Amino acid sequence: MIKKGNLYYPSEEFKKNAWINNKAIYKKAERNPVKFWEDLAKELVWFKKWNKGFVHKPPYFQWFVNGKINITQNALDRNLEKRKDKPALIWEPEPIKEKARVFTYNELFKEVNKFANALKKLGVKKGDRVGIYLPMIPEVIIAMLACARIGAVHVVVFSAFSSRALNIRLQDTKAKILITADGYYRKGKVIDLKKNADQGIKKTEVKKVVVVKRANNPVKMKMGRDLWWQELVEKESDKCEPVPMDSEDLLFILYTSGSTGKPKGCVHTCGGYTVQAYATAKWIFDLKDDDVFWSTADVGWITGHTYSCYGPLLSGATFVIFEGLPVWPEPDRWADVIEKYGVTTFYTAPTAVRMFEKYGVKFLKGHKFDTLQIIASVGEPIDEAAWKWYFREIGKTKRPLLDTWWQTETGGILITSLPGIGPFKPCFTGLPFPGLKFEILGEKGKKLGPNKEGNLVLLPPFNPGLLRAVYKNPKKYLKTYWTDYGKRIYFTSDRAYRDKNGLIRVVGRADDVMKVAGHRLTTGEMESAIALDKDIIECAVVGIDDEIKGQAPIAFVVSKVKKSQDQIIKQVVFQLRKEIGPIATPKQVYSVKDLPKTRSGKIMRRILRKLFTGEELGDLSTLANSGSVAEIKKIVEK
Ligand code: WTA
Repeated sequence: MIKKGNLYYPSEEFKKNAWINNKAIYKKAERNPVKFWEDLAKELVWFKKWNKGFVHKPPYFQWFVNGKINITQNALDRNLEKRKDKPALIWEPEPIKEKARVFTYNELFKEVNKFANALKKLGVKKGDRVGIYLPMIPEVIIAMLACARIGAVHVVVFSAFSSRALNIRLQDTKAKILITADGYYRKGKVIDLKKNADQGIKKTEVKKVVVVKRANNPVKMKMGRDLWWQELVEKESDKCEPVPMDSEDLLFILYTSGSTGKPKGCVHTCGGYTVQAYATAKWIFDLKDDDVFWSTADVGWITGHTYSCYGPLLSGATFVIFEGLPVWPEPDRWADVIEKYGVTTFYTAPTAVRMFEKYGVKFLKGHKFDTLQIIASVGEPIDEAAWKWYFREIGKTKRPLLDTWWQTETGGILITSLPGIGPFKPCFTGLPFPGLKFEILGEKGKKLGPNKEGNLVLLPPFNPGLLRAVYKNPKKYLKTYWTDYGKRIYFTSDRAYRDKNGLIRVVGRADDVMKVAGHRLTTGEMESAIALDKDIIECAVVGIDDEIKGQAPIAFVVSKVKKSQDQIIKQVVFQLRKEIGPIATPKQVYSVKDLPKTRSGKIMRRILRKLFTGEELGDLSTLANSGSVAEIKKIVEK
């Protein structure tokens, strides 16, 4: 890397080999963004070409109108000619002694077709929603692709989510089929996933449950309802034609936390998402035929959809998925995986980087990371210390470190400097992807200049992969994204500023969303979960800074009955794990007598947060119960 002031640029050699190395692309895309995306779309295979690039009827819009495409034809069939015997997917299981499974493009193609045929036999048709509740095993990739092949809409639910969280998603989408597994490995133990799945399908329309045999743990199979994956696919043919899908047909629904208690189903469509996943994976990760791409994200999250599945396949790359935790059983497991498979592109979250750093450089001894070409970060702001450590210890100060900003809603990365162009700057996510127009707005929608923090918004024509709807909830779609600045401006809900070079730094959320270890959670969602405990009268959850996880939730609860602090903590943790999952376990739970409120009864979460930041509490006289703050302060300090 070449350093100029506080900016880094790629080396001449890197530049020479990169797909995109001329910054003229930005000007060109800016002149006609719709044509820019159309040109990228032409690199893919379509059954029928679109007749209009972009149509806008605020707050709705369409891309590649009347085009017909199937993402799997582009991800699989298209690669058969040149890459038939090239590894597409490498699966690293958690147990060290277990053998990896590798699928060539041809093998993956066949497995997808077999499972697609099995789904058809189970009665799944185009447009039907299929729930997928699977850990990071090859079958999760096969299942997603099989759905897409026949035009079914996949609804992936993170395997560490609770049965309640699964239940909400199955109910909302009315899925008739669920694909799950007996269990999977986590820190050496087998997690009984089937038990959760059985709970999760109660009071839903699920008629059939396909179960992958993964961990061989004993499970109950219900006759007539539950079917083993392995038995189901055995008899199926490995040929299944991809269904032509309209550009605007649904490809998948992925639920994410919004500012209120209930998660929202983000709707992504076939044409726009495919183009977005293809173009961003290729240009940002500079994927070529000899690349081995590893994104550590679970497919339960959007990063897993776009970059642990579709993106690398659309580029014909080889990609790695890993069942376990990057630091298990030893803190350098991730480093071993990089070296074992010669990973060239490593994509992870700042939380993971801080965790690696915490274990110390002694775990890096002997790891040269010679194969790495690009390292990248996603999901939460990366602090300067983590950026520098990542750049120095893993990137060896030679490789571009891409900080990539995007959201479940955007479908793909929207802000990051391109590796063959730069510049890269610690803590800054960089320049918007070509063709995108972002602004930072202040009060009353005023455009802000350099170094002024405001709300980050995206202007038309947006990006092809941006969500088209909140599933079955047009009101929420309008209110969440298209209200703050009118129906023509997409509000990201993030706070950001630009430096004088136009590089964007995303500071954090403007709403109640927290990023806990890169996972998206809201305080409202957690409060609703806690409030289901009958003993609790009221509660407030706030996100505070955390050294490793970026942010961590803290819960304050008022209990109806007198109980020990330990008992209350136990109940609250139980409730959160039951309703959401272990990722929602709070860092602390405080049982208090009263929560600070305004005279109109609004809980002042801001004051609670300040108890942890050391900031001045400010004027408390407007509170209805200012005495509560002193009491809480005493408890927190203790
Ligand atoms: C945050 C994850 C700073 C942001 C792909 C966004 C980031 C939310 C970055 C979306 C980044 C994501 N720097 N903040 N590079 N990437 N975020 O839906 O607040 O899980 O709105 O998508 O994560 O989280 P989601």
